[in-house]
This record gives sequence, C-alpha cells and structure tokens, in this order.
Amino acid sequence: MKGIILAGGRGTRLHPLTLSVSKQLLPVHDKPMIYYPLSVLMLANIRDILIISTPHDLGAFQDLLGDGSRLGINLTYAPQTEPRGIAEALIIGADHIGADDVALILGDNIFHGPGFGEVLQHHVRDLSGCVLFGYRVPDPERYGVARADDRGQIVSLEEKPARPRSNMAVTGLYLYENDVVEIARKLRPSARGELEITDVNQVYVERRSAVLVDLGRGFAWLDTGTHNSLTDASHYMQLMEQRQGIRVACIEEVALNMGFIDAGACHRLGEKLGSSGYGQYVMRIAAQTPQLLTATP
Ligand code: G1P
Repeated sequence: MKGIILAGGRGTRLHPLTLSVSKQLLPVHDKPMIYYPLSVLMLANIRDILIISTPHDLGAFQDLLGDGSRLGINLTYAPQTEPRGIAEALIIGADHIGADDVALILGDNIFHGPGFGEVLQHHVRDLSGCVLFGYRVPDPERYGVARADDRGQIVSLEEKPARPRSNMAVTGLYLYENDVVEIARKLRPSARGELEITDVNQVYVERRSAVLVDLGRGFAWLDTGTHNSLTDASHYMQLMEQRQGIRVACIEEVALNMGFIDAGACHRLGEKLGSSGYGQYVMRIAAQTPQLLTATP
C-alpha cells in the first residue's frame, strides 16, 4: 500500500500564524504537526509516502524530512497548485499510487490511542473497497458524518449536514482500493468548488463496500483548526508525554520499532538533534534496544 499526506491549504483560520508558515509545519508541543500523520502511516507499515503541499510550502517539507531514507522510508513530494479539495490528492498522486492500494491522511489530523498501529495494519491487510475511521463528537455538523449498521457497513454519509443523523464524524484518514483513482477522476467540483472526499466515499457506500471503524472512547482525535484547538492539542501531548515519559509520534522511534532502521541508525538520528529533549529521548530509546547494546563494544 502507498501513502499520501495532504498538507495543503491556506490555513486562513490560523492567521497570522500561517501567513508565511504552512499549518502542517506548526508545532504541536515538541514536534511539527506533520510528524503525527506521518507516524500514523509508518505505524500502518506504509513506507512509500507522497507529501502534497502548496508550491510555496513544499520546499520547507523537503528541508524537514528529505527523501525519508534516514527513517528507512521513501518520501516524495508533489504540489497542489490551488486548494481544489481533498480528493484532488488522489489525482495528483495517481502515478505514485500506480497499481497499489492507498492510504490518504490529512496533514492536520492528529490520532492517538493504544494499539492503533495493529488496527491499521489489520485493515490495510484486509482492505476491500474503502475503510473510514469514525469518531464521536459533540459537533458533527462540522464534519463528514457517517451512519453504519451493526457490522460496520456504512449506510449513509453526509458532508457537514445541518441536521446530522449521527454524532459519528468521519476523520481525515482513508484507506482505498486502487480503483479510487478512477473514482476521483470522475468527480465534479461541489458547490464550494472542491473535489470532495465525501463524494469519493459515497461511491463506495453505494456499492456497499465502505466500512467504518469506530475509534472508540479513550482514543484521541484532535482538531488543530483554530488557535484554541491547536493549543489544546499541544497541551494534550505535553501532558501525555510528561506523565508517561514517552514521546507521541516520534518518527525516529516509530522507524526503529517498525524495523525500518536499526538501533545504531536511530541513535545517530538522536545525536543530530543535539541538545533538545527530543534528541535525548531518541538516543535513549535507541540505547535501550538490545540490538545497539550488542553492536556497540
Ligand atoms: C474534511 C472532510 C470531512 C472530514 C474532515 C476531517 O473537512 O471534508 O469530511 O470530516 O476533513 O478533518 P474540511 O477540513 O475540508 O472542512
């Protein structure tokens, strides 16, 4: 399976923060926002990832993440010249997807919960049609809203409905079979002038091949769309990390745990991050793995 991170948009709701910096590069506590969706794809065992952003911002993502080889993954980059909708990412990414299935994730969506990697790997392996991830919210009218039967088959889907039929928001992580490219190419822009991801998903709903995974209580799906929610997301990560002594979405640690890099390589990545607490954490994680202990005299 291939991965795509869509990190475009003008971020107008976060001005002036995003006047010169891409929203998805803003800090969420100790790391740039894009580390969170990138770690989600890596946890799903996806190693070929296309990052799509504006022509203006693409270079900054490249400076930050490079070709991914230091993490044992392959990162490529493509521009979205105008914010023409989430579904356009599937058209821009058509060559990258090739004959594979694809996981698309929005660069500003933050997911955190126990066992999420296993859940993702299971659905990546068993994929048929599309898999969406639902999260109960008090304000579903702000999102795509899904209703599913008791086997998880989606029976209705609406984009930002005035009167939502459930409180289950559709999050910004989508798993698709390869035919999604063809579906995206046939879309027409919506009233707001965008290629809507909900219209793509609707095709699978009509085919009765759209599955909803309920992320459940105790799972965190965090919003970063406003100044307050962005600060809340930082506070959440600060609290989790301080209390548990771990780092969430530490891409070097994920790469090590997934077996994409060995402990020696992980340790060197930590060294490069010098004197930051994050860098020290990466070095500590690497040093604790038996691999490094045996490899170092
Ligand atoms: C988009 C999707 C919506 C989804 C949301 C998740 O909304 O259209 O279905 O629930 O992302 O973040 P937008 O950010 O375009 O308003």
